[in-house]
Amino acid sequence: MKPWIELGTAQIPNDGGVLTLRQRDQEFSISLSGPRGELMNSRRFNSEQQLSVLGCAHLKNRNNARVVVGGMGMGYTLAAALDAVPSTAEVIVADLIPEVVEWNRGPLGECAGSPLDDRRVRVHIGDVAELLTEHDRLYDAVLLDVDNGPEGLTHTDNNWLYSVEGTSSIYNSLAKGGMLAVWSASPDSVYVSRLKKAGFQVEVKTVRERPGKGARHTIFLAKKVAARPANKRR
Ligand SMILES: C[S@@+](CC[C@H](N)C(=O)[O-])C[C@H]1O[C@@H](n2cnc3c(N)ncnc32)[C@H](O)[C@@H]1O
Repeated sequence: MKPWIELGTAQIPNDGGVLTLRQRDQEFSISLSGPRGELMNSRRFNSEQQLSVLGCAHLKNRNNARVVVGGMGMGYTLAAALDAVPSTAEVIVADLIPEVVEWNRGPLGECAGSPLDDRRVRVHIGDVAELLTEHDRLYDAVLLDVDNGPEGLTHTDNNWLYSVEGTSSIYNSLAKGGMLAVWSASPDSVYVSRLKKAGFQVEVKTVRERPGKGARHTIFLAKKVAARPANKRR
């Protein structure tokens, strides 16, 4: 078997460690320094795609849909979101690490069919949380795959995204009928309760890392059914 070739490294903000991109033949791998090891591999991406398939199912015929994808990774979630929404949509992809976006403009682009070349895409280099606190009732879907589950992994500030405050802020950033979809390596009943308390209607789906096989991952689907719950009105 051919050896892995290192293509690049990137520092994660706030001493979050180092990301390394490697290639072996047509296979790509992104790993995090320390015990966590491999974060992403281009041979397993079904659950990343399902995040968009499930999170954007309600947008098939929605004109001018606005979708946030956090983060970029290898681009599978972004590419699947683009497949799920009409030509009038805008899909904003956020990634904390500029090098990850550069890698997707270069060698990683081929993994998911170069989704950054799609004219519906807008790139936000920075924390996805910045997008989710800026506006009220703006987004039709927010798709989050920035951690291993509802707790900060690469970036401890990510804990905010799953906190009571963060969950409520994401709720406010969604339009009525909007969907928050969150990728996780495992179920989390505490997070489900928090989503419900924020006003979301919640469904929990199990998806496989490869179609019909491999590890089981969880996708939390949280729908904003009302404009804002009565007790959350400002
Ligand atoms: C597991 S990968 C995403 C994989 C992606 N779903 C795919 O289809 O390849 C996680 C990504 O989220 C980014 N990230 C982590 N925390 C973030 C944050 N707060 N805001 C934006 N991007 C973040 C990381 O740099 C990394 O690129």
